[in-house]
Amino acid sequence: MDKILVLDFGGQYNMLIARRVREQGVYAEIKQYDRVTPAGIRAEGYRGVILTGGPNSVYDPASPRCGREILDMGIPVLGICYGAQLLSFLAGGRVSPADNAGEYGKTALTVSGESVLFREVPPESVCWMSHRDYISAPPEGFRVTARTAVCPCAALECPDRQIYGVQFHPEVTHTEYGREILAAFLFGVCRCSGDWSALDYAGREIEKYARELKGRKALLALSGGVDSSVCAAIMHRAIGPDLTCVFVDHGLMRKNEGDFVEETFRNMGANLIRVNAGEVFFARLRGVTDPEAKRKIIGEEFIRAFEAQAARIGRVHALVQGTIYPDVIESGKGASAVIKSHHNVGGLPDAVSFDRIIEPLRDLFKDEVRAVGEELGLPKELVWRQPFPGPGLAVRILGEVTPEKAALLQDADAIFREEVAAALPGREPSQYFAVLTDSRSVGVMGDSRTYGYIAALRAVATDDFMTAEWCRLPYEALEKASSRITNEVPGISRVVYDISSKPPATVEWE
Ligand code: XMP
Repeated sequence: MDKILVLDFGGQYNMLIARRVREQGVYAEIKQYDRVTPAGIRAEGYRGVILTGGPNSVYDPASPRCGREILDMGIPVLGICYGAQLLSFLAGGRVSPADNAGEYGKTALTVSGESVLFREVPPESVCWMSHRDYISAPPEGFRVTARTAVCPCAALECPDRQIYGVQFHPEVTHTEYGREILAAFLFGVCRCSGDWSALDYAGREIEKYARELKGRKALLALSGGVDSSVCAAIMHRAIGPDLTCVFVDHGLMRKNEGDFVEETFRNMGANLIRVNAGEVFFARLRGVTDPEAKRKIIGEEFIRAFEAQAARIGRVHALVQGTIYPDVIESGKGASAVIKSHHNVGGLPDAVSFDRIIEPLRDLFKDEVRAVGEELGLPKELVWRQPFPGPGLAVRILGEVTPEKAALLQDADAIFREEVAAALPGREPSQYFAVLTDSRSVGVMGDSRTYGYIAALRAVATDDFMTAEWCRLPYEALEKASSRITNEVPGISRVVYDISSKPPATVEWE
């Protein structure tokens, strides 16, 4: 399998680079710049190396750098933004602060020289720039192949050494011919074959675990989310009845979702234990109003319910987890600030002992996981499900969580989701849901006064959930949702729309 190394210098689009490479059928792996050695790169047999962007200046002695050897290993190199500046610097060129020549956003690009990278790019096109420094003098032996109005060196190369650099970001869709430029590097320079696919990868995982586990039992905590569901589908294909999926229903799922998850996996023929633990969860949550305390209780109860099932089943060989590639990369980057304690079944291995942990999706991005899920026959509603927090509706019910409030929220949320899906079919926001506030307000229905809860509606657009914009939903959809909720859900008398972005707010209310 041809592999490309994406050497990470801290740029915000680094995962995107790897995804864009994989989209072209070439496997890409991200590694932090200081975690690889030339010998390691050679041993892995990479066909090419991409040096990513990053926020630093190469002339700052503390900036992240790789060794100069990387340019002389006979392996093609493509530097993007900071990566292009770094390779210029390492090869003896000069990088300077751009002063007035910094560029941000869409920029006109002029191809000014023959280059294999630009073989599919017309002389004039649009690229995406984001830089404060620029290459003011290319290294000896390099030629400039593109420029912009203010940047004299928007691309440079030394084909004899198979080294290429672009100041702009070909991985960002705003770069008109970004895909073609990456393809030219992958196929024209690195000579990759382009035969990698997430589906083949999943097929190999299925074969691998069928072989390795033969007759030994594995356990999987199924949340009904995309990752654990696709994991279950893969492992079910691999080991069939030796896989047991434990689905702990905490009673705080969206309306009818518990039944949907159960039905899906029963139809698949998977060994499924559904633990209806709603009563236990609600009892433990009685009187609790602090958001972090709620999350903690749910996390603990979840593990307890899972442990009880594991004990009933007896000794199992492996625990299957739905870790995906972004989790792997992010956990390698050290702890980022914990804003909310994210509850995930990732906490299980400490509590329950197994001989091994299996993570069949650990090399795949979310969109690849989804493609595998569809191929393995999971329903579209499940595969394209919007994210749903582990603690479920508990973090969308402000104040004390009770079964009555959960039922109100489930109804309001189902109506809102129906109306958004009807108003924007195929263009739904990244995440949209209802929240039940802890406040009540006066209303009037018929001739009577009402005094019900205030529900809030939330819809956000985001690529990575680290930042998010509130969505400008059509007024008609908001009106319809509001009117239906106040009419069809007795107990809710007022509906408001959340117009906060992240930051400063978070997506969830708690
Ligand atoms: P926040 O509220 O932190 O949410 O802006 C960002 C994304 O993470 C989801 N989220 C969670 N997911 N366990 C999860 O598995 C959690 O405890 C949790 N809290 C938030 C949230 O729905 C959004 O997609």
